[in-house]
Amino acid sequence: MKILIVGANGLLGTGAVAALAEGNEIIKASRSGEVSVDLRDPNSIAAMYEQVGKVDAVIAATGVVPFKSITDLTLADYHAGIDDKVLGQVELVRQGLNYVTDGGSFTLTTGITERAPILTGVVASLANGALESFVLAAAIEMPRGLRINAVSPSVLVEAPGYHEYFPGFEQVTLKACGKAYAKSVNGKKSGHTYKVG
Ligand SMILES: NC(=O)c1ccc[n+]([C@@H]2O[C@H](COP(=O)([O-])OP(=O)(O)OC[C@H]3O[C@@H](n4cnc5c(N)ncnc54)[C@H](OP(=O)(O)O)[C@@H]3O)[C@@H](O)[C@H]2O)c1
Repeated sequence: MKILIVGANGLLGTGAVAALAEGNEIIKASRSGEVSVDLRDPNSIAAMYEQVGKVDAVIAATGVVPFKSITDLTLADYHAGIDDKVLGQVELVRQGLNYVTDGGSFTLTTGITERAPILTGVVASLANGALESFVLAAAIEMPRGLRINAVSPSVLVEAPGYHEYFPGFEQVTLKACGKAYAKSVNGKKSGHTYKVG
């Protein structure tokens, strides 16, 4: 398979690459990647697909949201989180409908705050919940047998900078997350969120 991974050089992207590298052609994209793309810019997404051409699977392992108390969040903070994590991945799918081959797949990245809130995580929860609802709804309208899923990990063992924000949470390994991306790409499910942890 030819698999486009946006965010391939990030932590979760690295896990997806490791799990899928064998037997597949991996195209690594990000703002500073082999293929350049900024998911906040629809023109940049169009240029990326133009450059890469048809693919069998698209994975997004991206998404930046502000972490702030609800009393400190501004409207601009909400816009920033939604524009980056939600609409960046949604636009990757919207434009990708013209580039993913019949029976191919999209896999988006959400996170455990969709189902387990943390302090300062309001925008993260909002973004992750929105994306998972998008996946559920988009799956039943996908043309040409295309599938769409999400991977929703708990905090990673390999991300110590986040551990203090997730007290008492089970930490999961990058390897387990990589397997979830591989299941999404290689499996038959659609409209599904692969929860890790
Ligand atoms: N780390 C965790 O424990 C964890 C747990 C659950 C969920 N998540 C979620 O997983 C996603 C990825 O997290 P991560 O920890 O792997 O992040 P990361 O290590 O910072 O990697 C992010 C990747 O996305 C790329 N990227 C960032 N902004 C982009 C943009 N606007 N357009 C295109 N590419 C962009 C980055 O590369 P460039 O800088 O080159 O663009 C990088 O490759 C996030 O949504 C996060 O909330 C993370």
